[in-house]
Amino acid sequence: MLKNLPKKIKIVEVGPRDGLQNEKEFISTDVKLNYIQKLIDSGLETIEATSFVSPRAIPQMKDSVDLFEKIKTTDSFKKSSVHFPCLVPNMKGFETALKLGVKEISLFSATSSEFTQKNINATVEESFVRMEEIAKAAKENSIRIRAYISTAFGCPYNGEMPASALVDIIERFEKLEPYEISIGDTIGVATPAQVDSYLKEVLKVVDKSRVAMHLHDTRGMAVANTLVSLEHGISIYDSSSGGLGGCPYAKGATGNVATEDLIYLFDSLGIEHGVDLEKLVDASSYILEAVKKKTPSKFLSAYLKSRK
Ligand code: HMG
Ligand code: MG
Repeated sequence: MLKNLPKKIKIVEVGPRDGLQNEKEFISTDVKLNYIQKLIDSGLETIEATSFVSPRAIPQMKDSVDLFEKIKTTDSFKKSSVHFPCLVPNMKGFETALKLGVKEISLFSATSSEFTQKNINATVEESFVRMEEIAKAAKENSIRIRAYISTAFGCPYNGEMPASALVDIIERFEKLEPYEISIGDTIGVATPAQVDSYLKEVLKVVDKSRVAMHLHDTRGMAVANTLVSLEHGISIYDSSSGGLGGCPYAKGATGNVATEDLIYLFDSLGIEHGVDLEKLVDASSYILEAVKKKTPSKFLSAYLKSRK
């Protein structure tokens, strides 16, 4: 029987950022805002809103300032009832976030310099030099930091990455005092046995209450990997409504695990998540229509068919 499962979990909805960043056709700021409002209405309390990155690197995020200005007009922002972390790759992105009144930023690096070189034009080492400066400024301005570690299990350019590399990057990130560390299976290669053995190492250096799993579902293993993570007591999961997503600098990477898939799993285990599935499906249907895509999620496809 399954043991040690958390009673309650936190979902970090990354649809507006990870879900959309790979979309070639520009989605208008108003559509993005409507999508975010629908996600809020579904009960999600942490929604990664956007990223302050180079518009040349990620053209879809070129309206991030306008979008965040609009998010600031929502009740959820004004009442601080929803967290809206934003991804920041460098000091320029941080300064934008600071000026806008962003309360939480996500910093990101990886276990592989081949990947970071393509993703942010810096080695892992250089990325930490940048992030140390940002973390210091964030602390001075009471901005919370979330940390992402990409290529935790495998890298599109380097193949399988060892658990020791992940532990090493976690220890480096810990010095920046993030409130959470999100472990990224960027290209969806991880398997349950690998997640099990890596988490055993990870949990020796960071408390399980601060570990998040960020699983892409490229090979259909994300739900199985979530189950293994739950058995390790991990209670924070990043996911994307409708299962959209992918990083343009990780060849072959496809969508994040669909938030709906996770909810189906959590419900089956009696784990509390606070999300209204029907309203979430409305948000996903809205954005899937806007990007003119069918969901890769088997659960959501079946659910939508059963609703007709
Ligand atoms: P670079 O070319 O070395 O940067 O890129 P630069 O400092 O030389 O600047 C080049 C141009 O970009 C300049 O514009 C800058 O002003 C501009 P120009 O003067 O030539 O017109 N620029 C910016 N504009 C707006 N905001 C900024 C910014 N910075 C520079 N912050 C850089 C380096 C980091 C900027 C670039 O490579 C970049 O933006 N990369 C981001 C890539 C990205 O967003 N990837 C996806 C997110 S990570 C991910 O998906 C993984 C994750 O989901 C976890 C997982 O799944 O593993 C988190
Ligand atoms: Mg991702």
